[in-house]
Amino acid sequence: MHVATTISEVREHVAAARAAGKRIGFVPTMGFLHEGHLSLIDVARADGAEFIAVSIFVNPKQFGPSEDLSRYPRNEEGDRRLLEGKDVDLLFLPPVEVMYPAGSQTMVTVGGVAKPLEGERRPGHFDGVATVVLKLFNIVQCDVAAFGRKDAQQCAVIERMVRDLDVPVRLIFGETMREADGLAMSSRNSYLTKEERAIAPLLQRALRAGEDALRRGGSVADAERAMRSACSGVEIDYLSVVDPLTFEHPADLRRELLLAGAIRIGRTRLIDNIRIQSPP
Ligand code: PAF
Repeated sequence: MHVATTISEVREHVAAARAAGKRIGFVPTMGFLHEGHLSLIDVARADGAEFIAVSIFVNPKQFGPSEDLSRYPRNEEGDRRLLEGKDVDLLFLPPVEVMYPAGSQTMVTVGGVAKPLEGERRPGHFDGVATVVLKLFNIVQCDVAAFGRKDAQQCAVIERMVRDLDVPVRLIFGETMREADGLAMSSRNSYLTKEERAIAPLLQRALRAGEDALRRGGSVADAERAMRSACSGVEIDYLSVVDPLTFEHPADLRRELLLAGAIRIGRTRLIDNIRIQSPP
């Protein structure tokens, strides 16, 4: 695995792989890797990627002033070992000055789909995500890029950006990887104390309670009430039933629906979602 810290190194390695006829797959991450990230490498390979690039960059532009940028978990050595074990070809580890040199002024803003839920609670977050992802796409120039569905709204925002700005990248999405008790894997789970970790699966259970309410013929309000009552005792950011294209309340309950939630347990903010494929 080659480790690159500059844009020119990345371009050189990717150009050589492309000249050798390889399809380039890319998995952007913020590091502190877990099975969820590693599964995206498999998803890219299953899509035909023959050269895998992974980036690790804790992007300051997607953190709000009161968020966890300074304590975001890092484990560069462990991450490198995991990526070596997955036969990754190129790891891009850019310093902040490489991604945002002094004087850089341009941000990417996605419209409607970036506004509700996470967009409302984390102002500027998706501008930061869209900006860094577009920059990474321009640097790596991959054929296919893989993202995890745990960040469902992020997937939708990136999909919208790629379509609106004619970015020549095929997007693929990997399913959320879960611990045995249902907790969605996330680097931020490492913040949880033992006691907090024990109650964390309640978010997934709440989403399932919302699904049950819909399947019993309940309304969006019934489902949201069921989710809230399953989360009593913890701080709720949102627990919503939305249209997975708009992230607004669905106009039609017979279409695919997304049940999405964000809660806070202690100092840790957890998000999760489930999709309901068939009409309830
Ligand atoms: O999902 C993440 O880890 C980040 O938001 C991403 C896509 C790597 C952009 O910084």
